[in-house]
Amino acid sequence: MPLRISPYFWTMGKITIAIDGYSSTGKSTIAKQLAKSLGYIYVDTGAMYRAVTLFAMQNGFIGGAAENPGALVQLLPKIHLKFVFNDALGYSEMFLNGENVEQEIRTLEVSRYVSKIAEIEQVRHKLVEMQRKMGTEKGIVMDGRDIGTVVFPDAELKIFMTASPDARAARRYKELLEKGGNVSYEAVLKNVRERDFIDSNREFSPLRKAEDAIEFDNTDMGLKEQYERMYHFALRIIEKS
Ligand code: DC
Repeated sequence: MPLRISPYFWTMGKITIAIDGYSSTGKSTIAKQLAKSLGYIYVDTGAMYRAVTLFAMQNGFIGGAAENPGALVQLLPKIHLKFVFNDALGYSEMFLNGENVEQEIRTLEVSRYVSKIAEIEQVRHKLVEMQRKMGTEKGIVMDGRDIGTVVFPDAELKIFMTASPDARAARRYKELLEKGGNVSYEAVLKNVRERDFIDSNREFSPLRKAEDAIEFDNTDMGLKEQYERMYHFALRIIEKS
């Protein structure tokens, strides 16, 4: 059962919530729900790395025969990212240089190249700086890979989400099929494993659990239970702060 909100909740201080973990662990679903019920801003940092990847693909730096992600660095000042809240959907969509790219950044093709782009030091600097600015007022739920370790090492609540590769691939496969994608389960599982490897072994800000993060394995856990547990963690800290 979720905790009852204290009548003083809305007068209490706001906290920063960092949710990190492996790809397709359902971070964004839970983070979105949590932000909505706390009246916090939600930021999906994966969407930012995906949008930069799409830009690199559009400009021929990566994808197909192209394999020169480093050339992207010169053009970083030309990349303008913005989250625009969509009232009808109830969440923010990613805009790249003024264009809504929310659909394009979720394809398996972008997923295939995003880890390569996310390992470029200058890309990380640019995006981390933007993310820190978004969180200066607290009252934010941010999900990604390095939020509790690099972006907000002082976050009051840090969660590190894990699940078995098979469970994660099955979730992502279902999602892609629902969106009309034409992919095999094996290709999705391969992508999940490859991203785990690159994300955990890259030189700059590798994916790792912050020492003070709560490890949260949701392999066999439904959404409702996950949400209730997270909400409980958050309220406990907010009410003490
Ligand atoms: O959360 P996601 O699967 O949409 O993220 C896409 C990729 O972006 C992921 O493979 C790793 C990278 N990423 C990152 O390096 N740091 C973040 N804070 C968020 C995502």
